This record gives sequence, C-alpha cells and structure tokens, in this order.
Amino acid sequence: MAKIALLFSVIIFLVGSTTVQAAPSIDEYMALRNQVLQTEDSIFLGGSATLDGRETLVNEILMGFKTKEYTLGMETNNGEWFAGTKHIFHAMEAIEASNVFKIIRIMPKGAALHMHDVTVAPTSSFMNISTWANLYYCEGDNNHLLFRFYPSPPPFGCREGTIWKSVASLRENAPSAGWVEEYFQRSMNMYTPTPDVEYPNTNVAWNLFEKKITTAAGMGDYLPAYLQYYYDTLKYHLDDNVMYIEMRGLLNSVYHLNQTELGAREILRGLKETTDQFLIDYPDFFGAKYIYAPHRFNTPVDIGAMIDDSVLMKTEFPQYFAGFDLVGQEDKGSPLLFFLPQLLNATDKGVKFFFHAGETDWRGTKIDENLIDAVLLNTTRIGHGYALYSHPYLYEKAKEQQIAVEVCPISNQILGLVKDFRNHPAFNYMRDDFPVVIAADGPGIYGMSALSHDYYVAFMVMGGEHADLRFLKKLAQNSIQYSAMEAGEKVVAQALWEAKWSTFLDEVIRQYGNSTEQDVMDNSIPMSAVVL
Ligand SMILES: *[C@@H]1O[C@H](CO)[C@@H](O)[C@H](O)[C@H]1NC(C)=O
Ligand SMILES: *[C@@H]1O[C@H](CO)[C@@H](O)[C@H](O)[C@H]1NC(C)=O
Ligand SMILES: *[C@@H]1O[C@H](CO)[C@@H](O)[C@H](O)[C@H]1NC(C)=O
Ligand SMILES: *[C@@H]1O[C@H](CO)[C@@H](O)[C@H](O)[C@H]1NC(C)=O
Ligand SMILES: *[C@@H]1O[C@H](CO)[C@@H](O)[C@H](O)[C@H]1NC(C)=O
Ligand SMILES: [Zn+2]
Repeated sequence: MAKIALLFSVIIFLVGSTTVQAAPSIDEYMALRNQVLQTEDSIFLGGSATLDGRETLVNEILMGFKTKEYTLGMETNNGEWFAGTKHIFHAMEAIEASNVFKIIRIMPKGAALHMHDVTVAPTSSFMNISTWANLYYCEGDNNHLLFRFYPSPPPFGCREGTIWKSVASLRENAPSAGWVEEYFQRSMNMYTPTPDVEYPNTNVAWNLFEKKITTAAGMGDYLPAYLQYYYDTLKYHLDDNVMYIEMRGLLNSVYHLNQTELGAREILRGLKETTDQFLIDYPDFFGAKYIYAPHRFNTPVDIGAMIDDSVLMKTEFPQYFAGFDLVGQEDKGSPLLFFLPQLLNATDKGVKFFFHAGETDWRGTKIDENLIDAVLLNTTRIGHGYALYSHPYLYEKAKEQQIAVEVCPISNQILGLVKDFRNHPAFNYMRDDFPVVIAADGPGIYGMSALSHDYYVAFMVMGGEHADLRFLKKLAQNSIQYSAMEAGEKVVAQALWEAKWSTFLDEVIRQYGNSTEQDVMDNSIPMSAVVL
C-alpha cells in the first residue's frame, strides 16, 4: 500500500512539475522514471522476494537466455519466432528447444492444483493399456472411436449397425507397425498441426475435447486401467519436478470387467491406495489430495446426494479428500446459483469448495456471474478465473480473502478463450501480486508436459520481459501456500521444496554456469520425459 501511495505521489509530482514549475533536469527526470520502474517491479508477482548469492547467479543465467529470446522474438520476422504469440501447437517445438524451458523443466515447481481425470497423464500411457486383453473398440457417431473392456465379445454394438471389435485382432491385422497407436492417439489427443481449422471457436473446441475425453474414458474407466493411469499421472508430475498434486475427478463410470460400476467412495479408496503405493515407490514425492468434481449438468437433487457423499468421503479419507467442485463447459451448463440450496447446505456440513468459475469470454452474463457465487460461497480457490479481471470489486474481495486463482493458460488457448498469450488476462492478476497458481488442466490430452509448458508461457509471456527468478520462485511457493494442505503439511512440504530448490540452483550452475554466451536454443539437450 505504501508503495502504491509512493507511486501516486511520484506521478503527481511529475504532472505538477511539468505544468507549474520548470521542467526537471534529465537526471531528475531519469531518477523519477527509475522510481516508477522499481515501484512497479516491487509490487509485481514475486517482487517482494529476495535472491541470495547462488540465486543471483542462476537469475543472471536465466535472464541471459530470456532476454535473448525476447530480442530474437521481437526483432526476427516481426515476432514470428516468439512462442508466446503463436498457438501452442505451432510453438511447442521451439519451446522445447529453449534453454529457458529446460531450466523450468528441472526447477522444482511445488504443486499442481488443477487437472482432471483421464486427461492428465500422456495419451501414450493409454497405448500401453491398449495392449491389455479384453479390450474392444467401436466406431460411434461420426466415426468417433469408443473403447470398452468386456469379458467376451458382446452381441451388440455401440450404435445401430456396428459391433464391438477386438483390439487384439486389429493389432494383428494392422497395415504397419505404429498404425494402431497413431489411430488411437489421434482419437484422444487434441494435438493437430492445424488448430485454427479444427478448432475455429470455443464451442467446436469443447465439443471435440469432450469427445476425446469420452474416447479415453472408455479405456481409462476400466478399474485396473484407471488406477494404472492415475499412477502414471503421479509419475508424470514427479518427472516434471512437481512433488504434490490436487486432482479433480467425476468419481463415476469406473467399471469392473463384469460391467458392474463402482460407487464414488470405492473409486476414491482405490485412488488413495494408489497414492500410498506411489509414495512407497517414490519417497521423493510429497503426496496428493482429491477434489470431487461431478458434472454441472446434474440435477440439484443429484448434486445434493453427491454432497452427502462428500461428507462421508471427508470423514473416511480426511487427509486425501480436499473438497467439491462442478465441471463441464460453463457457457453451456448450469450456473452455481442453480444449486444454491445444496451448496449452502454443503457449507454447513464443512465441505470445502474449489469452484471452476469465469472460464468464459462472455463478460457480464449469467455465466461470468459464477464468479460472484464462487467468492460469496467462500471457495478455497477459483478454477481459471479467466473473467475475474472484469469484476473489479470482486477482484479486491477475492484478494482480501486470499482466494487463489488457478491460471491454466494453454488450456484457455486450446479451448478458444484466447488466441495470443500476450492478451491473457492473468497478467492483470500478476501485476499486483494477486494470489495465482499456474496449472495445466489436461496436460496429457493437450500433449504438454505436466506443468512446464504452462510455466514457460506464464514466465515468458504473462510475466513480461522483466519477470525473473523471483517470479518463478513465488509461483512455486504460492502452489504450496494455496494448496489444500493443512498447516503442518505445508511446513513439511515447504522444507522439502527448499531442499529441492537448493539442488536445482547447483544443477543450473553446473549445466549452464559457463554458457551465458551460448545460443538460446540448444537442441543438443533432448527433452527425454515429454512423450507424445
Ligand atoms: C508399459 O507397460 C510395461 C509393462 O507393464 C511397463 O514396463 C512400461 O513401463 C509401461 N510404459 C509406460 C509408458 O507406461
Ligand atoms: C463383478 O466383479 C467384481 C470384481 O471382481 C466383484 O467384486 C463383483 O462381485 C462382481 N459382480 C457381479 C455382479 O458379478
Ligand atoms: C440439506 O441437508 C439436510 C440434511 O442432510 C437434508 O435433509 C436436506 O434435504 C438438504 N437440503 C438440500 C436442499 O439438499
Ligand atoms: C463466508 O465466510 C464469511 C466470513 O467467514 C461468513 O460470514 C459467511 O457466512 C460465509 N459464507 C458462506 C456461504 O458460508
Ligand atoms: C567455468 O569455467 C571456469 C574457467 O574455465 C572453471 O574454472 C569453472 O569450473 C567452470 N564452471 C562451470 C560451472 O562449469
Ligand atoms: Zn478445469
């Protein structure tokens, strides 16, 4: 506050001095100008953090690469090279060759707090599962591929005139090695070399997104596959130097081979046990919690029942169960207000909320008013909060209540909210250190790393040219601070993160310490863990 007041007095002084008094000398003017820059820097996200000796050295290395990338981007071919100006599918290759990206990859990023179900681990994880016995496929409407595990070939199809066919036979008769994998991956991954053609607007993008999720879910909802995929999800984060996750999920449709479906609490138990096993296998990982997030197309009565179930989950798995949310395209589904009696009831029962809200370009509509209800219902965090910048009063209220916004830049671009990352509104949240965390939403289905691609975009584009190591450090620390961990867990997590951070600093100095003159794009270091 004092700093903002200082900034105003500087501006008033400037205005006053140019109108009433003689103009300042060049030196005086430059001093004032520097004061503006410094004040803005100090109130920006991460601006209050300090860097020690090793961090200062790493910052010089990092900023050396970043500055060169900016110079290249702005000067070469009118920004054509700069990844931030393009669709992520056109920019991926350049990003993955960037040394800034490589440093972000090895940086301990703390927690990932926004992601969903079968969209998180890479789609290649399903290729493994697609070699399992008893898997069948069928072409639904518009040749939309569907999968299901059955104990024997079922005597029916997925729609009239079709039958479920054996994936094993398809493999035997495939025209070439890799043909099946390509066919399957295309059906579940959003990647395309022509995103502008395939996803011309939000509705088309969402429609295809949900179709691809349905394709993946047919395979991924078979209980053993579901748990294997979740295990792969945890590993995917660990490999990207993320030590803790909070995942959202529908907790429905998970089935046994005999086609009986599990209840939400049974599914949650399976996930919890898989997390425990993962922590035994990889003690370096910190843990996970879960947010029950059913569809916003449910009826109020159903949502009421799901909230009752949430209370039971909270009692049965107090460490693992974090809270409640509603998912599905906000533009099309029921707003939070529609479920108000049920949601107020949930508050009374101590269920915490993690609402998606304001994931829309339709400002001032019923849809973006979800933000009002999310904040008034005391949501712990806001998923996306893309439209929050158009609610100045609510913005201040959320800031006062320390309600963090989970910013998912790549997801917002792929689903059609923003074309050029330079126009992403999250910049407005970073400029006064509003609590933000960076998340990926569906990194696997988008073909991204667990978190690093989104961090790269946040750092290189939204943070602007000045954002430095303090910005990245603050984002990682925010992810722990605004997680659903209890105070005691946060202390332990923070200590583990600090140990990892120290190793990271040594590693950057070791790998890049003498390379500030090296090219920005270094293709000689392969990005081993990101597989499409
Ligand atoms: C695929 O499955 C095999 C055997 O279960 C396993 O060894 C391998 O690590 C898996 N690969 C991936 C990418 O999950
Ligand atoms: C279906 O399979 C599961 C797991 O093997 C088993 O627990 C359940 O009793 C079976 N249900 C029926 C109706 O056979
Ligand atoms: C609120 O909770 C109570 C107690 O569980 C229940 O009887 C009532 O039906 C709930 N109200 C709504 C609107 O779901
Ligand atoms: C939200 O929190 C405030 C302050 O603790 C409280 O007064 C209010 O009743 C809460 N609202 C709901 C819906 O629980
Ligand atoms: C950098 O180069 C100097 C001088 O050649 C050498 O002593 C130092 O060990 C090198 N540092 C790293 C991190 O490679
Ligand atoms: Zn989401």
